[in-house]
Amino acid sequence: MKILVINGPNLNMLGIREPDIYGKNTYADLVKLIEGYCREKNVDVEVYQSNSEGDIVTKIQQALGNTDGIVINPAAYTHTSVAILDALKAVAIRAVEVHISDVSRRESFRSISYVREYCEKTIAGHGFNGYSEAIDILLAPPAEKRV
Ligand code: DQA
Repeated sequence: MKILVINGPNLNMLGIREPDIYGKNTYADLVKLIEGYCREKNVDVEVYQSNSEGDIVTKIQQALGNTDGIVINPAAYTHTSVAILDALKAVAIRAVEVHISDVSRRESFRSISYVREYCEKTIAGHGFNGYSEAIDILLAPPAEKRV
């Protein structure tokens, strides 16, 4: 089982950026948490972060044929990027959307998500734990195949 975790722009600034919203833990802490959780679950994981939309699209394309599931926090691109949605549709790899903050309780533009249309589930407002929850979803069979 191979999972790719993708984090979008400014998530490398965790711990520094708006701590009231995103908390005081750093991006390195997040990577450690994800890697530790995956080790526990015997999952092979790659954690990727980029501030660039095109690089995220390329990373999704490169996952074709070698990745079983994608956990994606597109950050600000959530609210703007048809290109990231199209890349997910193109590779057709199972995916779960994560947001650290509860985007539904913030500015109205943050309640728009393009990737939501493709992702099996959206987890928002659970802090860093949202990533482990997303991994658990990908470790379970797809919803329609569950008995
Ligand atoms: C975010 C929410 C987005 O609205 C914002 O642009 C981010 C982070 C979150 O994890 O809560 O950068 O995706």
